[in-house]
Amino acid sequence: MTEKLLSTDHPIRFEPPADLAAAANVTEAAYARAESDVEGFWAEQAERLTWAEPFTEVLDWSDAPHARWFADGKLNAAYNCVDRHVEAGRGDKVAFHFVGEPGDTRDLTYADLKDEVSRAANALTDLGVGSGDLVAIYLPMIPEAIVAMLACARIGATHTVVFGGFSAEALASRIEDCRAKLVITSDGGYRRGTPSPLKPAVDAALARLGGQSPVEHVLVVRRTGEYVPFDDATDLWWHDVVDSASPEHTPEAFDAEHPLYVMYSSGTTGKPKGILHTTGGYLTGAAYTHHAVFDLEPDTDVYWCTADIGWVTGHSYIVYGPLANGATQVLYEGTPDSPHRGRWWEIVEQYGVTLLYTAPTAIRTFMKWGREIPDGYDLSSLRLLGSVGEPINPEAYLWYRNVVGGDRCPVVDTWWQTETGQMMISPLPGVTAGKPGSAMRPLPGIGADVVDEEGRSVPNGSRGYLVLTKPWPAMLRTLWQDDDRFVETYWTRFADLGYYFAGDGAKKDEDGDIWILGRVDDVMNVSGHRLSTSEIESALVSHPRIAEAAVVGAADETTGQAVFAYVILRAGDGNTGEALIQELRGHVAKEIGAIAKPRQITIVPELPKTRSGKIMRRLLRDVAEGRDVGDTTTLSDPNVMALIAAAEG
Ligand code: WT7
Repeated sequence: MTEKLLSTDHPIRFEPPADLAAAANVTEAAYARAESDVEGFWAEQAERLTWAEPFTEVLDWSDAPHARWFADGKLNAAYNCVDRHVEAGRGDKVAFHFVGEPGDTRDLTYADLKDEVSRAANALTDLGVGSGDLVAIYLPMIPEAIVAMLACARIGATHTVVFGGFSAEALASRIEDCRAKLVITSDGGYRRGTPSPLKPAVDAALARLGGQSPVEHVLVVRRTGEYVPFDDATDLWWHDVVDSASPEHTPEAFDAEHPLYVMYSSGTTGKPKGILHTTGGYLTGAAYTHHAVFDLEPDTDVYWCTADIGWVTGHSYIVYGPLANGATQVLYEGTPDSPHRGRWWEIVEQYGVTLLYTAPTAIRTFMKWGREIPDGYDLSSLRLLGSVGEPINPEAYLWYRNVVGGDRCPVVDTWWQTETGQMMISPLPGVTAGKPGSAMRPLPGIGADVVDEEGRSVPNGSRGYLVLTKPWPAMLRTLWQDDDRFVETYWTRFADLGYYFAGDGAKKDEDGDIWILGRVDDVMNVSGHRLSTSEIESALVSHPRIAEAAVVGAADETTGQAVFAYVILRAGDGNTGEALIQELRGHVAKEIGAIAKPRQITIVPELPKTRSGKIMRRLLRDVAEGRDVGDTTTLSDPNVMALIAAAEG
């Protein structure tokens, strides 16, 4: 079927649907407007927000690469996402249709959201949390996660949301790094039909930190009703302190550059990077792109982003962008196959979802399950489909467009990163054609290029490195507590040109449209989640039986990449063979989280290294992907690859 879709049924270029093009939020003129006066363009976009004190300067780039956007303006992010919609008479509009995995549902209007966020803001203030404090949020996909984020923003506290799939160890290192004063968690959430606990991981994280723990209180949402151990000295129930708080709260205005959140993301070393986003520029970038790329019509659209709140996509395109735009959304707690494989399509049908934003890995999973499943539901409400997280292969794009989108919905392939905060390269659905596999052009106001080693723009038809050539409002401001690493990671490779180095390879096709080819550094992308090879290597060598480890991402049909590990054992007692491998996989899950568990671990006698001792991951990738190994002449011991091939069996 895939072949048939690829060959004749479809041209390889889809023009924007005429009706969408005729009424699009953003037209071709935006590119020219941004080109002629980029700061003026972003100032206009910032006017989408409500400023308590207007800004007079758009961009201060005098201390590049440290940007300040709208720096003398003041605003409150939560006011912009909630209160102003209520004040404009749209309090009865649904902000979230929440769908719990067990089937419980709850609609929250903007007025409900305002009350809840205000209560939570009052409760946090009573707990001594205020401007400049850090709050860690470790919650499932429930409305309280969003309320917690907005409550922090409302009082000027900086949140760091830790994905619920991360382990106690990973949570502890993040709490320690950002010195979080408060942790907001829940007894658990629902995952594949059963309650899955969260609070015990917080307890374990705090126990690990011991006397070094900066945490004063743990605020616990009751979600599953399962028993949780409770420490009366630190732990508080959300329903005790938030439900009893006043729903009246006056938001204070903060500087545009006030730290809104820190999001930890994997880099090329073992230590995750704390990516800092601030308020006014971030909100401008998220709100503008959500309006432009989804062509959002807040009065009629029902928007559903399937990302978890623990990733940047949840921050920019569930919380800050859509709420600033007054959208109505679906929020779903669970997995796509619980209680059955049609769950997503049932939700689309039931709520009349018009805009769907998801990841290629999910689409490939649905392809595997078969089109009969989505075909069993009425998906005619959909009008636009978005993709994010990794390159979307043309087969998945065409299936998404055809089976889910009934061949009427444009697909927007949106390239961006935790660091960029906002979409950067994407079609504008009313303007740009879509080509399966291409993210197409930089959005209005964004400068992106594909360059060679020297930073020279490559001609059409060539490959190179993806760079961003101009500052943009939602850009990261620094790495938390590590400004040197910020400059080193993103801004030194093409320092003379002042380019931001994204870490991705890309090509320009004959039309100059951009195709993202994936990471060129030691970062893997598994199911759209960023994992670092060295972080997993550190986790493996922290096990007493491992002497050395090398990790690579190998191509995988469903998850994009899968984690393959090659390890050298130390002598010692204990499990051997398959039992040891299971133990090691469990160890990685404990150190980082289940998402980081290697698909395959191979015990090898040696690792391929250059004469200077650098592991040649390229050769391991060849082995993992079942190819003949390439050039081995730089290896210190040319026999190693034969030994590894033998160990692979
Ligand atoms: C990396 C960023 C953006 C939020 C989710 C991931 C890859 C992301 C695309 C796309 C090709 C993509 C890149 C990028 N990526 N979107 N549309 N096409 N690749 O955020 O964890 O910060 O990862 O994801 O490699 O650098 P992230």
